[in-house]
Amino acid sequence: MPRLAGKTAIVVGAGQSPGEGMGNGRATALLFAREGAKVLAVDHRMESAQETTALVTREGGTCVPFAADVTKEAALKAAVAEAMKLWSRIDVLHNNVGVSLAGGDASPTEITEEAFDRVNAINLRGTIMACKHVIPIMRKQQSGSIINISSVAALSANYPTVAYKTTKAGMIAFTEQIACQNAEYGVRANAILPGLMNTPMAVDTRAREWGKPRAEVEAARNARVPLRKRMGTGWDVAYAALFLASDEANFITGIGLLRAIVCSVRALIQMVSMYEITGTPYDQAPSLGRAGVLQSGNARRMEEALWISG
Ligand SMILES: NC(=O)c1ccc[n+]([C@@H]2O[C@H](COP(=O)([O-])OP(=O)(O)OC[C@H]3O[C@@H](n4cnc5c(N)ncnc54)[C@H](O)[C@@H]3O)[C@@H](O)[C@H]2O)c1
Repeated sequence: MPRLAGKTAIVVGAGQSPGEGMGNGRATALLFAREGAKVLAVDHRMESAQETTALVTREGGTCVPFAADVTKEAALKAAVAEAMKLWSRIDVLHNNVGVSLAGGDASPTEITEEAFDRVNAINLRGTIMACKHVIPIMRKQQSGSIINISSVAALSANYPTVAYKTTKAGMIAFTEQIACQNAEYGVRANAILPGLMNTPMAVDTRAREWGKPRAEVEAARNARVPLRKRMGTGWDVAYAALFLASDEANFITGIGLLRAIVCSVRALIQMVSMYEITGTPYDQAPSLGRAGVLQSGNARRMEEALWISG
């Protein structure tokens, strides 16, 4: 049976930035649909959401495009209303939208107010506002899975730009909060912290910004990845999201899956176990999940353990 049979999902940021290959959001929308979910593909670029929809429908899946800018709460509210109008329930909310250099991000000594506010409104506030409108519905259903796409940038002490890092760190804090506050309603919330991925957003945007050939940016990023010296792809993030969206993750809430580039379901289970070993405070954990609440100290230890295991 498909892993998301009978479920409905909103993927926010289901289009993709211009460039080669497949973005995380588009791959996730496709995979969710392949696994039986009906997908609302939300993006501020309607043509990009429509491209994703066309890919899904070509494979026989169900997908509806919807135009919404995540910096506008009313647009997110309308997207949620559309999903309810279509399918009367929302099982999965996947918050994929994220910008860095494209939003004008810069180092702590160069960032402007405008750029910081823009990146914050897109990355963090957009996620919060989408959740604001979905959580009451999931509470009523007594079920639901929220997946927030953060980044290892959140945990990297020496990350070069400031708005991306701090908003992605904020997403982890927010995920912990909603996991705790909604556990009693059967609503799960987890974050994925992808490492270096070979997506148009990450590679083509940098090639454009830095005036370098794509191949050069790609090679430099590949060289930094311990596992096979090769970046992950949108599919690696999508499979981690599929696991969290599915009932296989029924007892998992409040965690951050680190470095999705090395994740397989087996690796995810290992990570959860490692997380338990590293001293999760069970008394503070939401009643729903044994995985507990991600704390930054634990996250670091888990990350180290993961590299050792890898
Ligand atoms: N690629 C990597 O190396 C990497 C690493 C860590 C985390 N991530 C995270 O993965 C996520 C997405 O990656 P991707 O490859 O799918 O990127 P992408 O740019 O291809 O997809 C994001 C989508 O969001 C849409 N979008 C942008 N601003 C929007 C707005 N204001 N309102 C609505 N939609 C908007 C874009 O049109 C695009 O279709 C981001 O959150 C990113 O931070 C990526």
